[in-house]
Amino acid sequence: MRLRNLKDKEVFLDNCTYLIKNQDIKGNWSKEFNNDKPIHLEIGMGKGDFIYNMAKRYPDINFIGIEKYTGVIARAIKKYPEKLDNLRIINMDALDLSLYLAKEIEVIYLNFSDPWPKKRQAKRRLTSEVFLKIYDEIFKNEKKIIMKTDNLGLFASSLVSLSNYGYKFLDVNLDLANSMIPNVVTEYEEKFVREGVKINYLVAVKNR
Ligand SMILES: C[S@@+](CC[C@H](N)C(=O)[O-])C[C@H]1O[C@@H](n2cnc3c(N)ncnc32)[C@H](O)[C@@H]1O
Repeated sequence: MRLRNLKDKEVFLDNCTYLIKNQDIKGNWSKEFNNDKPIHLEIGMGKGDFIYNMAKRYPDINFIGIEKYTGVIARAIKKYPEKLDNLRIINMDALDLSLYLAKEIEVIYLNFSDPWPKKRQAKRRLTSEVFLKIYDEIFKNEKKIIMKTDNLGLFASSLVSLSNYGYKFLDVNLDLANSMIPNVVTEYEEKFVREGVKINYLVAVKNR
């Protein structure tokens, strides 16, 4: 079935057994996963390659993927129809994260986030202070953000923004594909690496 219109897309969302729609989940994620394993979150999961393959590779971690566009998340569901015990997804904007999550997250992944290159768009970047404050609401203890991007402008502004907010860097790498860092590739990354584009990577942490 091709996802021609919104109705087709909504059918995929309605029938998905691992899509969370109810905000009552807030504070109850361990119950949802039926265990107390750490929970990692990907913001802007796109068509799902990263979050789905991470969930398969790391069964001792619970994963949540969020994506703001219905059409995009419908494509992820179409590609990955099978429910995994340790994966749930939500069709939502990161601005609303605290509606669905209490202090329950150990790691946030930002993969190839939209760069918003213009100065007046800076607040929309997922590493702007606006979003770092939102992440404070959902991190459990130590805060850990792992980011990958092809975009040097976004990478540089993220280093500054994270540093100004008190994050320290455990790792910074300007050529992830040619490093020894364990990695699960995303849809965008697969294309960039094929084209020879270098991938920038960072791991930032902050104690409460
Ligand atoms: C450039 S794509 C990258 C997709 C995927 N992470 C990858 O690496 O292939 C960025 C994705 O983030 C989503 N996104 C951007 N801002 C978001 C937000 N505030 N909340 C949730 N998703 C967002 C977009 O809709 C898009 O699907």
